[in-house]
Amino acid sequence: MTLKLTPTRFDQLADALVEQGWFEWPHAVTDALCQALLSEAEHHACEGSLRRAGVGRGEIHHVNTAIRRDEIKWLDGATRAQKIYLDQMAELQQQLNRALFLGLFEYEGHFAVYKPGGFYKKHCDSFRGQANRMVSTVLYLNPDWQTDWGGELVIYPEDTAKKQVEIRPELGKLVVFMSEQIPHEVLPTQHPRLSVAGWFRCNGSVTGKIDPPR
Ligand code: OGA
Ligand code: MN
Repeated sequence: MTLKLTPTRFDQLADALVEQGWFEWPHAVTDALCQALLSEAEHHACEGSLRRAGVGRGEIHHVNTAIRRDEIKWLDGATRAQKIYLDQMAELQQQLNRALFLGLFEYEGHFAVYKPGGFYKKHCDSFRGQANRMVSTVLYLNPDWQTDWGGELVIYPEDTAKKQVEIRPELGKLVVFMSEQIPHEVLPTQHPRLSVAGWFRCNGSVTGKIDPPR
């Protein structure tokens, strides 16, 4: 268990999700695991096995480089580092379900690489009523991130009286937020920016439609 999920930390996370819809957790994941995930992501980037990310699910999925410019590779649990990380997300899922009764059913995640000039315009990860992404997670894999590189994650609080928050994509930091409620954005980055983005989903197939997995 390398996710530093002490009872106190988990309580902070759960309270923050309920009260403000998001939580920034620096040093959530050990440097060793982040370095292993970083090497994998870099390897995929060198090998050309990343794909341009799209927007929309199922049949309406399409690439739109005016909205987002990252390249991704879905996790498949094939390596030790991925297995460990997926186990940690499973543990987090279980604890969130116990504490908040969210009915989270599964986790899907991908490596994301933003090359210099990359960004992701303001969006929500899920739309009220139709989708089943409930809780979003982003784990950052960037050692020694410099402020002038940009690439911050901007969180727009649900309470519009509150100021937006800019979060630097630093190695080991995990950001967790409610997928439907929290609009967010990735500001243009000057430097390659690597992460694992993922979502806990509830089971969307219960309404009778087969839910597209991605
Ligand atoms: C996403 C996303 C945020 C980030 O992949 O949907 O919003 O900071 N990522 O990488
Ligand atoms: Mn997003």
